[in-house]
Amino acid sequence: MAQTPSHTLEQTLSIIKPDAVEQNQIGNIIEYFERDGLNVVAAKMIHLSTEQAKSFYAVHAEKPFYEDLVKFMTSGPALIMVLEGENAITRNREIMGATDPSKADAGTIRCDFATSIERNAVHGSDSAEAAKKEILFFFKPNEIFRRT
Ligand code: CMP
Repeated sequence: MAQTPSHTLEQTLSIIKPDAVEQNQIGNIIEYFERDGLNVVAAKMIHLSTEQAKSFYAVHAEKPFYEDLVKFMTSGPALIMVLEGENAITRNREIMGATDPSKADAGTIRCDFATSIERNAVHGSDSAEAAKKEILFFFKPNEIFRRT
């Protein structure tokens, strides 16, 4: 039997972080997602509380950068979104580029907008498990647009 190519419609969590929001780069960053086939199906702007930021980044609690990360993520509003598209989780990470902008490929969001490994403009879920958990952290199912 002929193999059909795999098409996996996925959702992933994306955050435009306080540095990029402060620099008025929301529209420019969303353009990177939309021109590469990722659509915004939910969005809200939140100024995270310390409790929210600590809880969201709990997996990094033992890391030396944790306190600074929490301070940065609570320094101003962030745009929290659900992105949907074919292989959205991997694709989003490709569009964002490496965590450290000095290692990010040309044309990626972090290469173009991030200023350091901490002030790195965007966050994206790193696995299907993380995407599910992170989307639920911020959104109720009825806050996410469904085309069907
Ligand atoms: P993000 O994708 O949001 O996931 C965890 C965040 O921790 C990461 O982006 C960076 O902003 C931050 N981070 C990761 N490694 C370091 C590091 N070595 N020093 C400072 N911040 C880091």
